[in-house]
Amino acid sequence: MAAAKVWGCITDFFTYETTKSVVVKSWLVGSINRFVQLLIIVYFVGWVFLHEKAYQTTDTGIESAVMTKVKGFGRYNNQVMDVADYVVPQQGTSVFCIITRLIMTENQTQGLCPQYGKKYRCSNDTDCDKHIGSHLASGIFTGTCLTEVGQCQVEGWCPTEDDSVSTEFMEEAENFTIFIKNSVRFPHFGVTRGNFPPNINIACVYDPVSNPYCPIFRVGDILKLANETFSTIAGQGGQIGIHIRWFCNFDKPVENCRPSYSFTRLDDVFGENTVSKGYNFRFAKYYRSPSEGDYRTLHKAFAIHFDVMVSGNAGKFDVIPTLINIVAAFTSVGLATVLCDVILLNFLRGAEQYKAKKFEEVSDVAVNTESECQSQSQSLQTLKTEGKVSYDSGTFSNGCQP
Ligand SMILES: *[C@@H]1O[C@H](CO)[C@@H](O)[C@H](O)[C@H]1NC(C)=O
Repeated sequence: MAAAKVWGCITDFFTYETTKSVVVKSWLVGSINRFVQLLIIVYFVGWVFLHEKAYQTTDTGIESAVMTKVKGFGRYNNQVMDVADYVVPQQGTSVFCIITRLIMTENQTQGLCPQYGKKYRCSNDTDCDKHIGSHLASGIFTGTCLTEVGQCQVEGWCPTEDDSVSTEFMEEAENFTIFIKNSVRFPHFGVTRGNFPPNINIACVYDPVSNPYCPIFRVGDILKLANETFSTIAGQGGQIGIHIRWFCNFDKPVENCRPSYSFTRLDDVFGENTVSKGYNFRFAKYYRSPSEGDYRTLHKAFAIHFDVMVSGNAGKFDVIPTLINIVAAFTSVGLATVLCDVILLNFLRGAEQYKAKKFEEVSDVAVNTESECQSQSQSLQTLKTEGKVSYDSGTFSNGCQP
């Protein structure tokens, strides 16, 4: 008896079930069905496969190295400025500054002196008490008012800096050139590329239209392409982003894998601010004299801060994404049925009739009698014999027929 049951289970398992279809000869539903199918096919072929290149694997983790070199001479404070004077830091990395304006405070020594600035005026010592512990001045406040000059006293590098003076910017910086060497590697495909070919004319200057692969950029051109004027950014300082983008398709020859450049002002959002406009920093040069000890020249430098950023990805044909997306496309074509069913069973004349053809209902009277395994096959049987007309939408049949 038990053996027969097991055998029954096995034969039940090795069966194939296929869905029974209802063919609806309706021009309206038929054409909606074909139209929706067509839309889905067009979407997959046009957008997913051709535009988004779903048949490729992509490598987004590119490795990149950047080297920069600035060239040019300027005149500032009756001196000729070369690269060692105006580029900070000197290492030639992807982040560097070109100093365009300086406020210099010379011959500073350690000592006590008045703090410059309207904010620090005083007539007696109590006026200076509120500044004690302040970080905003050039030294540590002593709490003393130097009545002969009417300014609070600080201890530190003296004389203190007066950065309200207006100085000229270095006009020649507009003609400085920046050479950018960028190599990238796509580790997934093992491809290495450089941003210029070996036979490049080294006297070229980048131009987005006539010379888009030249790696030498004029500062003035970069600012123009970032929609900035040289005179404002040279006076106040600012941050400029140089973006190098690599979007490569390795289904085509590797030589076609070339960079594209774009330029933006990175600190644009602070353009309307009244405080902390532009970009500046301070540094000092130190000297020692045998008689007077250490002294220094303090520089407040306004600079154009460049940041070279590299991004990109590469794609190449691969079987696995192709298969996955083809299967997704075929499956999605079936979505047309869902839409057509909704129309057919709800909005069309004769919807009741279609429903009756599509859904057959069976009551559970015949099911209870048999044991598990057989009851399954039995219930399929009863479905066929005791099939009743259903007026339900099929999703929830409650079995309460009027
Ligand atoms: C920049 O170079 C051009 C052409 O070489 C020259 O006419 C111009 O005067 C230069 N600008 C500055 C500020 O030196």
